[in-house]
Amino acid sequence: MIDNFGRKINYLRFSVTDRCDLRCRYCMPTKNEKFFKKENILSAEQIKKILTLFIKTGIKKIRITGGEPLIRKDILEIISFLKIQKDKQFLKEILLTTNGTQLKKYAKDISNLGVDRINISLDTLIPEKFQFITNGGNLKLVLDGLFEAKKQNIEVKINTVLLKNFNEDEINKMVYWCHENGFKQSFIEVMPIGEVNTSRVNQFLPISFASSLIKKKFGLESLPLSTNGPSKYFKTKLGNVVGFISPLTDNFCSSCNRIRVTSNGMLYPCLGDNGSVNLKHALHKNDSEIIKIIRNSIYHKPEKHFFNIKEKAYVQDRFMNTTGG
Ligand code: 5AD
Ligand code: SF4
Repeated sequence: MIDNFGRKINYLRFSVTDRCDLRCRYCMPTKNEKFFKKENILSAEQIKKILTLFIKTGIKKIRITGGEPLIRKDILEIISFLKIQKDKQFLKEILLTTNGTQLKKYAKDISNLGVDRINISLDTLIPEKFQFITNGGNLKLVLDGLFEAKKQNIEVKINTVLLKNFNEDEINKMVYWCHENGFKQSFIEVMPIGEVNTSRVNQFLPISFASSLIKKKFGLESLPLSTNGPSKYFKTKLGNVVGFISPLTDNFCSSCNRIRVTSNGMLYPCLGDNGSVNLKHALHKNDSEIIKIIRNSIYHKPEKHFFNIKEKAYVQDRFMNTTGG
């Protein structure tokens, strides 16, 4: 499906829950978080129905996100459904973004269900700092999960959000650690999505800060790896791949191929925009009518996002735990 600006949209990121067992300080407020009412959350049947319709509109790559997707009780039912679609060659890739806390339990099943690659969020390798940034999380649990995924031959990418006065001193250490363990890694600029407890300006570190540090220590050679995504990839002299995602200091919207659905059934054609349609409310309609709604929404995907770290967040009531990364 081609949108209004000629972009081919073939990648859907589906957030299956807005709940999370962690409370990362840049993601959601540490107190009085607002979660969707249980009755508004899509059932597995509804998710499967919506996924089927998206596949009919030409989606080839699906990433399951959250919140934390692996805390949904019926998560394997949803991924099993995707495996069937992939086996029939309706889908090319099944991907997952997780915080890793449940991976020890699930890595084997996930691997058997044909999940190609997983992204694991990890912003520090120091247990006390991990506990602080996630508001109570246990680093060991995540590392155990991560290594279980590696053992099950799942390709792992570490996602690290750059945070001022928090992890700038660990950047090169984490790059080396990823090299040692055979993980890819992406650094991400913090985005002003939802108002959290600290001002975004106090959290923000530009990608250029990390890239120049890494370049000095390990070298960075540009790679032509194009995923049509926001990440720019480089190879270090050690041989590992490091990506940089700079939604604030670089605008990659012209090659954006993705759309998002939240666990209450809202389709968001752009992460940085409030425009959305309610697919849950449309589910009683016949398939061709729902597909028309989806196509219309995709067609009108905004040209670009307008994040500004210094201004009040444009997206205020929605946090990253609702739309996923
Ligand atoms: N800005 C950038 N990345 C964020 N994430 C969560 N909130 C934000 C934010 N405000 C990241 C998580 C995870 C991915 C799903 O999104 O750390 O890596
Ligand atoms: Fe949970 Fe991910 Fe948000 Fe952290 S960033 S609170 S792990 S959804």
